[in-house]
Amino acid sequence: MTKSPSSPAPGLSPGARVLRVAMNGVTGRMGYRQHLVRSILAIRDDGGVRLPDGSLLQVEPVLVGRDADRLSELARRHGVERWTTDVDAVLADPEVDVYFDAQVTSRRYDALTAAIKAGKHVYTEKPTAETLDQAVDLARLAATSDVTCGVVHDKLYLPGLVKLRRLVDEGFFGRILSLRGEFGYWVFEGDHQAAQRPSWNYRAEDGGGITTDMFCHWNYVLEGILGRVRTVTARAVTHIPFRWDEQGREYAATADDAAYGIFDVETPDGDPVVAQINSSWAVRVFRDELVEFQVDGTHGSAVAGLRRCVAQQRAHTPKPVWNPDLPVTEPFRDQWLEVPANADLDNGFRLQWEEFLRDVAAGREHRFGLLSAARGVQLAELGLRSSAEGRRLDVPEIVL
Ligand SMILES: NC(=O)c1ccc[n+]([C@@H]2O[C@H](COP(=O)([O-])OP(=O)(O)OC[C@H]3O[C@@H](n4cnc5c(N)ncnc54)[C@H](O)[C@@H]3O)[C@@H](O)[C@H]2O)c1
Repeated sequence: MTKSPSSPAPGLSPGARVLRVAMNGVTGRMGYRQHLVRSILAIRDDGGVRLPDGSLLQVEPVLVGRDADRLSELARRHGVERWTTDVDAVLADPEVDVYFDAQVTSRRYDALTAAIKAGKHVYTEKPTAETLDQAVDLARLAATSDVTCGVVHDKLYLPGLVKLRRLVDEGFFGRILSLRGEFGYWVFEGDHQAAQRPSWNYRAEDGGGITTDMFCHWNYVLEGILGRVRTVTARAVTHIPFRWDEQGREYAATADDAAYGIFDVETPDGDPVVAQINSSWAVRVFRDELVEFQVDGTHGSAVAGLRRCVAQQRAHTPKPVWNPDLPVTEPFRDQWLEVPANADLDNGFRLQWEEFLRDVAAGREHRFGLLSAARGVQLAELGLRSSAEGRRLDVPEIVL
């Protein structure tokens, strides 16, 4: 590991408790932007995370990866003291407290297994594994260890979804009937304009596919807003069969780029809710945000995106009459009221990191761990199977 002992890490106040966070995959899209820059460096540069006793818990990243040149450049650019290409050395280093993983999905299972066995606290991107067996394996390993494990559940920390959840908690909806979600945007094929996502996302053999990528998000979103997912019916499709990679080479897109899913959900009170979520990298946006969820209930409805949430009460519901001979009679979009944040809702990735770090400091479990993540992998696996077999499938309870 490279280290310059004479230069103290920036932002460290003398005597502050410091957690060293080994961050693997920081040259990637998510690892760099959301986790390194927007979360760990932002926390470090703000002086750390405030603990309940009023003290500060500081973080010090250790950059981990395969490309020494890129890591050293990143370390220099952001004033990070340590970086290394030797993952084993990081895991063997008693000064490293937390292992974070944002590598490509296919690398995750082995990396997390090694980290937990080495006694490191683990924080990781989703999905936690490529197969349910592996995801359950990880959850079992975590359950028998005394480390804190957290899995990115970023959507639940987004302002839009925080507001939506508040409406559920306040009983705004009455009996909830349905949720419909629309996620997606056009991902360029890469020939004339470079694709805005990595090419491995479109190759099944490299762990790609939108069902694998998104159903693990939808599982915790549905659990976090409504309740447990009991069945899944899905249709996974590859709309664009050929794409061009980062080097401009044409390749066969072997993974699904759209997934149309219907989920039977059961609320904690045992009420059924039908949820329907479209996910697509082959759709053009005529929405206010790249993801939107509409929840309809007997007493009100709401539409939440990443940031905004608007709602309409039963008493304010218009009474349109279907008549194709007349132009639209109501300004439907104007009839919704903005739900205020009433709190400082920061970047969702950073908020979850802060919660996770406080959990590590307190030696307790993080509320979104490897079992919740395994349910996400399960939903993706069942979604793909439902599509292949053309039928609705039950989602069995995972028992560790
Ligand atoms: N939470 C979210 O909203 C969200 C969004 C996108 C991606 N992700 C997840 O984050 C992870 C990374 O996705 P990304 O879009 O940043 O991908 P990316 O391709 O931009 O980055 C992948 C990282 O893994 C490294 N890597 C690539 N191949 C490797 C190999 N064979 N061995 C070791 N390391 C390798 C790369 O160097 C890079 O650092 C994926 O698991 C993905 O599912 C999460």
